Amino acid sequence: MPIGGLPPLPVRASWVVLKFGGTSVSTPERWATIAALARKRIDEEGLRPLVVCSALSGISNQLEALLAAAVEGRHEEPLAAIERRHLELGKGLGLDAAPLLKSDLDELSRLALAASLLREAGPALKARVMAFGELLSTRLGAAYLQSQGIATAWHDARTSLVAREDPTLGARAVLSATCDFERDEALIARLGDLPAAAVITQGFIARNRDGQTVLLGRGGSDTSAAYFAARLGAARCEIWTDVPGLFTANPALLPSARLLRALDYDEAQEIASMGAKVLHPRSIPPLRRHGIPLHVLCTDRPEAPGTVISAVGAPGGPQVKAISSRRGITLISMDTVGMWQEVGFLAQAFNLFAQHGISIDSVSTSETNVTVSLDPSANVLDEAALTHLLADLSAVCEPRVIAPTASLSLVGRGIRAILHELGPVLEAFEELKVHLMTQSASDLNLTFLVDEEQSERLIRQLHGLLFGQKGESALFGPTWSELFGGPVEEITISPHEWWHRRRRELLEIAAERGPVYVYDAPCLREAAESLQRLDAVDRLFYSLKANSHPGVLRVFHDLGLGLECVSAAELDHVLSLFPGIDPARLLFTPNFAPREEYERGFAAGARVTVDNVHPLKYWPEVFRGREVFLRLDPGRGRGHHPHVRTAGAQSKFGLAPEQMEEARGLLAACGARVVGLHAHAGSGIRTPEAWSEVALFLAEAAERFPDARVLDLGGGLGVPERPGQSPLDLDALGEQLRRFKTANPRFELWLEPGRFLVAQAGALLARVTQIKRKGEVTWVGLETGMNSLIRPPLYGAYHPILNLTRLDQPAAWIAHVVGPICETGDILGRSRRLPVTEEGDVLLIANAGAYGRVMSSHYNLREPAGEALLS
Ligand code: LLP
Repeated sequence: MPIGGLPPLPVRASWVVLKFGGTSVSTPERWATIAALARKRIDEEGLRPLVVCSALSGISNQLEALLAAAVEGRHEEPLAAIERRHLELGKGLGLDAAPLLKSDLDELSRLALAASLLREAGPALKARVMAFGELLSTRLGAAYLQSQGIATAWHDARTSLVAREDPTLGARAVLSATCDFERDEALIARLGDLPAAAVITQGFIARNRDGQTVLLGRGGSDTSAAYFAARLGAARCEIWTDVPGLFTANPALLPSARLLRALDYDEAQEIASMGAKVLHPRSIPPLRRHGIPLHVLCTDRPEAPGTVISAVGAPGGPQVKAISSRRGITLISMDTVGMWQEVGFLAQAFNLFAQHGISIDSVSTSETNVTVSLDPSANVLDEAALTHLLADLSAVCEPRVIAPTASLSLVGRGIRAILHELGPVLEAFEELKVHLMTQSASDLNLTFLVDEEQSERLIRQLHGLLFGQKGESALFGPTWSELFGGPVEEITISPHEWWHRRRRELLEIAAERGPVYVYDAPCLREAAESLQRLDAVDRLFYSLKANSHPGVLRVFHDLGLGLECVSAAELDHVLSLFPGIDPARLLFTPNFAPREEYERGFAAGARVTVDNVHPLKYWPEVFRGREVFLRLDPGRGRGHHPHVRTAGAQSKFGLAPEQMEEARGLLAACGARVVGLHAHAGSGIRTPEAWSEVALFLAEAAERFPDARVLDLGGGLGVPERPGQSPLDLDALGEQLRRFKTANPRFELWLEPGRFLVAQAGALLARVTQIKRKGEVTWVGLETGMNSLIRPPLYGAYHPILNLTRLDQPAAWIAHVVGPICETGDILGRSRRLPVTEEGDVLLIANAGAYGRVMSSHYNLREPAGEALLS
């Protein structure tokens, strides 16, 4: 009679190894899944399952606690809790569990008693105690599978996995052992001969040459599964967890992370080593050696496709496949002035790390500094260990600890071949201090170490840039939220994006008469009011170079904002619209303007800003007896693109510090008084500390200008442009300015933003003229292009693009959106996801209220888009 009602199997049927982690073996429902999976492998594939199990979730911790309690002489209660947990699961599985578990529980109790008598638990005893987690779970599992009609043999993993001898390892030889993974014909014969359709065994445990129990360390069950698969020459190794595979980023942080359908061994190992917790990196080498495919699958969703890791990986060339991150990394920076190039310096320093048992992960060197990162998983870094190391290092260099930092790795095969494509991605680092950067010798990752508090934001941003536009493919599967219906992240392109929806009908009418910029007045007001709530800012001026539409100016004028002009023509425009305006509401901040424009500024009664000594030296009569502002160069430029960073030696704006004395002398000579100082670091800045830094810089400069009561911190307040970018934190900005004012109460603070007030309130609408397909590429042509909106070709700027005519239709194409101008660069959006689009559809290019129409041209004699304000 065949065992368990199944037909006898050919003895040498191939093995498939299925490993189930703690949560996957903790409930009767999960065990039903395990039985179904095993049966499928047997019935449908003719394979023999070797089921490798972890301890029930939480039990390993309870066993550790049991030992700790035993050492203090109180082991009964923890022991009883462990017993209860297993009996309960046994009951749920319909088993009479007590007799099944009796001998293991008796032995565990004897060991606990021994620990309580000895009042100590060394590594050998610890390993024996910990092993009971897996022994108990597999006892229940074997009986359950048997009860489900699957003839199952229980196998003690310690009889087949033997740890390598390594006397240098000490306690680690017992608690974090490694085993060989050569094909093992004897094991194949031994397990093959078992009279059973399936075999169940323990993860995490092995024995040493003396027959004592040893543990395989963290992630040990994955490693066990890989060892068994390698030794048995299995057809496949399956790791069943609570996550359906490896993702482009940690889905707990980013529900928009996509499943990676296929990876090669090296890529998977890299992702696992760089932070993904789904898979232990130690499980890959045994499988790689024997070319055994590894499938990572989800017990909760057995039908989900999972990730297949093999020698081939996914088709396609080099590309970034995932962002991995590890937190809690400590850096040691060693200033080496005078040491560098001294023979043996590095050897000497590294030797000290070795002496303190601290393992170094990555290294970067310069002539005066060596910085190393310490791998948190390989080091026990307590204060004392670090203090001793630093004390010793001080003899050879000046050491400094930088912590906590986090590593961010872009992972993918052949990453060096695509460095040029990473330009926009690397811009994400522009406002950040990168402490250390490495690229792996295997050409599989590019890693950046940044302050830990920055890492989450950065991952979101990088993920948006790298994967935000990607759809499903042979490599990329569904997103986490698609799989689990979790919250869909808000893409922080524009909180106002949905005014497009609210105003849809009006927008469609507006677009009937040709391309047009449309501005939404409520959205303009909302932006202005959010800045008016910054109580540390005494005056707000709208920088009208961003958008000089009369209706837009009226909105801000009526809200009480001042207006900042940069040319005589802008001043005249304002005065023609608001003839009676109080001149105190006018700022005039020209750069390299002709003499007459300064005269015009004073005549209009505006606050005039000077940013060069030339006008003071050659046209002193223009400034005689006047009150002026001085524009200084804050030294450090910021902003979304090099063209808009307005500070530093390469920038044409502002007075350099060494010219300040000369300017002071010239101004004094013509009896002019400096009543305010001004600085503008650049445009499109989203780091809140930028303005308080400028304020501190100006406050210091004001020491030389005792009449300066106003500090104008410029504009530059950014809005999110690309998917994944976070908005400027106005609360943080307000708080920092408040702190500055409390410390420096004699100054008024002014701001003169442009973009922030108008960008999100504007959209460019244009009709589709033609569709073209060339090879793999689809082009959607519009009636206007860079003649209306030059930001994409000029700065590589990103503007979201929607098909307004088909707002509710799903994306079906990936297309480049282009204009009719005779330039290859006339592209408004690359690789955009659009629904099926036809001639005559209206496309909406969002976030276009700033620097859109004002920078347009008549190139090719094509009229740029018109303008309309929706009140
Ligand atoms: N103040 C001064 C002295 C400026 O030079 C500027 C902008 C602003 C204020 C206003 O900056 P906002 O708040 O708008 O960032 N065409 C580029 C932006 C150029 C900004 C020039 N100066 C773009 O499309 O991104």
